Amino acid sequence: MFPDLDQLRAEALQELERVQTREALEAWRIRFLGRKAPLMQAFGRLGSLPAETRREMGRRLNALREELTQAYETKAQALEQAELERELAARWDVTLPGRPVSPGGLHPTTLTIRKIVQVFAEMGFQVFRSREVELDEYNFQLLNIPPHHPARDMQDTFYVDTGTEDDVPPVVLRTHTSPGQIHAMRYFSSLNPDDPPPIRVVLPGMCFRYEQITARSEIQFTQVEGLVVGRHVRFSDLKGTLSDWARRMFGPNVRTRFRASHFPFTEPSAEMDVECFLCGGKGCPVCKYTGWLEILGCGMVHPEVLRNGGYDPERYTGFAFGMGPERITMLLYRIQDIRYFWANDLRFLEQFA
Ligand code: DAH
Repeated sequence: MFPDLDQLRAEALQELERVQTREALEAWRIRFLGRKAPLMQAFGRLGSLPAETRREMGRRLNALREELTQAYETKAQALEQAELERELAARWDVTLPGRPVSPGGLHPTTLTIRKIVQVFAEMGFQVFRSREVELDEYNFQLLNIPPHHPARDMQDTFYVDTGTEDDVPPVVLRTHTSPGQIHAMRYFSSLNPDDPPPIRVVLPGMCFRYEQITARSEIQFTQVEGLVVGRHVRFSDLKGTLSDWARRMFGPNVRTRFRASHFPFTEPSAEMDVECFLCGGKGCPVCKYTGWLEILGCGMVHPEVLRNGGYDPERYTGFAFGMGPERITMLLYRIQDIRYFWANDLRFLEQFA
């Protein structure tokens, strides 16, 4: 029997349509064009046909074999092409433009603190850190701030709720870095209570005040405190150290001046101004046409404070200072509003990256 060639053709082409892989194609070839395929077997049986139909059948068999072989070749090429394209797609396209990465940056306050501390480090100061949550005693009493001093006002201080018991000492978020002075002195004097070592430290850190937030005041800000204690430390050491620091910080020709002031923990007390580095002292809106910028508070450590730190004021003297990195950053970059520092607006922060 000869197969129905029309049906065989239809089936073969339909099956070929479904072929997706080289393996499936090879299976198809064996099934329809292999030695045992019905079409190929039919060639062997041509001799059994009468001469009138043999010729015609041979021609049809040949034509179908030819057509299927053609279809096979075309399919093989298509598969190869598809495979190549898949492979190319999986490769890196080195001509694609890169995706921009956005690296983080340090906060402007951090940059200023680092610069301040770096300059003091060059001058022989160590960094001493202490807690942001303080005993009221350290934040005020031991710094010679009496119970009714205005700085202790409820308006200015965040008190920490420590529970209902009355015998728990009051706890505050520190309103300045000055309590670090007591921690530093107590630490160093504990090393050798009879003959405490000299101290030269800076104390950077976060401070908190319960205030109305405005363009000029925030409830959270940083300070950098400084403390020097030793034998024969004098006011001229304070002036020399801070003037030198100002020149290293703001420029070698910058002038400084000291004005008398008052702080409970220093006596005498002063404030240091630097010549306006924006107008060079000629007068501009930033220095309010005075030619000077107020940079820090300072003074000789009060004898009572030295004693509270374990240093005998008969044998030791010292000076201290405190400054606001946000304020210094605002002056350096002409930032008009302190609220930018905590607003986390990338348009502001990215300018310092
Ligand atoms: N603690 C002061 C404040 O928060 C700043 C200050 C002034 C610190 C004078 C000092 C100093 O160490 O000597 O305003």
